[in-house]
Amino acid sequence: MTTTKIAVIGGSGLYDIDGLEDQEWVEVDTPWGKPSDAILTGTLQGLPICFLPRHGRGHVHGPTTVPYRANIDALKRLGVTDVISISACGSFREEMAPGDFVIVDQFIDRTFAREKSFFGTGCAAHVSVAHPTCDRLRAACLSAALDATIPVHDGGTYLAMEGPQFSTLAESKLYRDNWGCDVIGMTNMPEAKLAREAELCYASVAMITDYDSWHPDHGEVDVTRIIETLHGNADKAKSLVLGLPAVLNHARDTCPHGCDRALEYAILTAPE
Ligand code: ADE
Repeated sequence: MTTTKIAVIGGSGLYDIDGLEDQEWVEVDTPWGKPSDAILTGTLQGLPICFLPRHGRGHVHGPTTVPYRANIDALKRLGVTDVISISACGSFREEMAPGDFVIVDQFIDRTFAREKSFFGTGCAAHVSVAHPTCDRLRAACLSAALDATIPVHDGGTYLAMEGPQFSTLAESKLYRDNWGCDVIGMTNMPEAKLAREAELCYASVAMITDYDSWHPDHGEVDVTRIIETLHGNADKAKSLVLGLPAVLNHARDTCPHGCDRALEYAILTAPE
């Protein structure tokens, strides 16, 4: 039996969570350096939960400099089993409107200036990320969103871009019309890949703030527009998190999708 321990990685606009009992900010060190910030630990209706502000309190890390490896490793060291990413995103679909949430199921990784693996020096391993999100954890996030009456979409492909600039109009149209992407953001990769290497279940709740640059009636995305929607989204995200203990098994068997056994056949380097 595994005792479920949730970590919420909060993105732009989400720097803490409500209702946590026995709160403590814990400093964690890792071989990959320090995580984005101290990690808030506590329990929510009996469910152990950690919260890590991805950009640090005060939003000190941009998307390229977020220490993704240290973040995932620090959560693993705290005994986390399930990682829920909550982040802002732009939408490529008319029906996926600002204020809506998307429980992402696929990614296209266009980031290029980040460390993407725990492996490579001394040990080579290749995990599968064909299905980069955990269906069990996604279903829990969907239930919690529906229970909190949040407008939510089940599934969507997230284009992870390097940033920090937003996309050009040509890129926006390419991702939407040719690549079939649904939303765009700057932070879920390599986070999702690293979570898989760390054998952690991963789900992503993408909170739509804008229509990126493609929408003829909405003009181009800028930070002012994003912030207008961000505050309402953060309140909804906090209510989603409050609903997680009711929809997650506090003790469970191994992950039915194998997230917690991802390294079983992945390591090529011979043991010493
Ligand atoms: N985060 C929020 N909106 C975004 C957009 N349009 N592109 C990339 N990241 C975003």
